Amino acid sequence: MRTDFLLAALVGASSVSAAVMRISAESMEYDWEVTGWNAGCARAGCYYDFNVTGAANLTSRPPTPAFKAYCAGDGEGSPYRLCTRLDEEDTDAVVVAKLLPSTVDNGTRIATIQVSLKYTDLYTPTTWWNFTGHASSFYNQFVAPSQNFTITPDTITGVA
Ligand SMILES: *[C@@H]1O[C@H](CO)[C@@H](O)[C@H](O)[C@H]1NC(C)=O
Ligand SMILES: *[C@@H]1O[C@H](CO)[C@@H](O)[C@H](O)[C@H]1NC(C)=O
Ligand SMILES: *[C@@H]1O[C@H](CO)[C@@H](O)[C@H](O)[C@H]1NC(C)=O
Ligand SMILES: *[C@@H]1O[C@H](CO)[C@@H](O)[C@H](O)[C@H]1NC(C)=O
Ligand SMILES: *[C@@H]1O[C@H](CO)[C@@H](O)[C@H](O)[C@H]1NC(C)=O
Repeated sequence: MRTDFLLAALVGASSVSAAVMRISAESMEYDWEVTGWNAGCARAGCYYDFNVTGAANLTSRPPTPAFKAYCAGDGEGSPYRLCTRLDEEDTDAVVVAKLLPSTVDNGTRIATIQVSLKYTDLYTPTTWWNFTGHASSFYNQFVAPSQNFTITPDTITGVA
């Protein structure tokens, strides 16, 4: 086992225990591109839509799949909503997103989106990975064009 794979816990009481690995996000140079961010708030609540892409890297630890997904949802503090894969890659990558409660900074309401990616390891079919990260933008609808920004995953866990 690599030293950067910290064996964090053992789950499952069965004889086949699954090892939960936590990878230091700083050990990877990896982020996701958000494009076409549009978000606004109405009486019924706040809503968003955007595309998010991640690049394949077959040599990083862990290897990452290429994906592009369209995410749309509403409600600050709502549960994750499934994003729609737009790519044609032959992987089981699942992308979800949710809007976190906003904060107000000097009169501007900060919108924070959290995205999570889960996929089966590209080489080891019994291992899966979960990457989660968030980034902030603002409720730009009607006041500014669609926004682009990046999300750097800050929590990376794997189960083998
Ligand atoms: C997402 O990407 C698709 C094409 O891949 C494009 O048609 C669509 O307009 C994009 N949506 C946003 C919100 O940028
Ligand atoms: C893939 O990951 C390796 C190891 O982290 C890194 O050195 C390399 O630059 C990455 N390649 C791309 C195309 O991002
Ligand atoms: C807060 O916003 C006002 C008006 O938009 C601006 O003049 C001021 O510089 C801002 N202050 C900070 C600390 O960003
Ligand atoms: C990743 O793990 C978090 C925490 O357990 C979970 O809430 C989230 O749904 C997972 N992501 C995916 C895409 O399943
Ligand atoms: C956002 O990214 C898209 C796709 O890369 C690009 O076409 C568009 O010009 C960018 N928009 C801004 C405001 O930079």
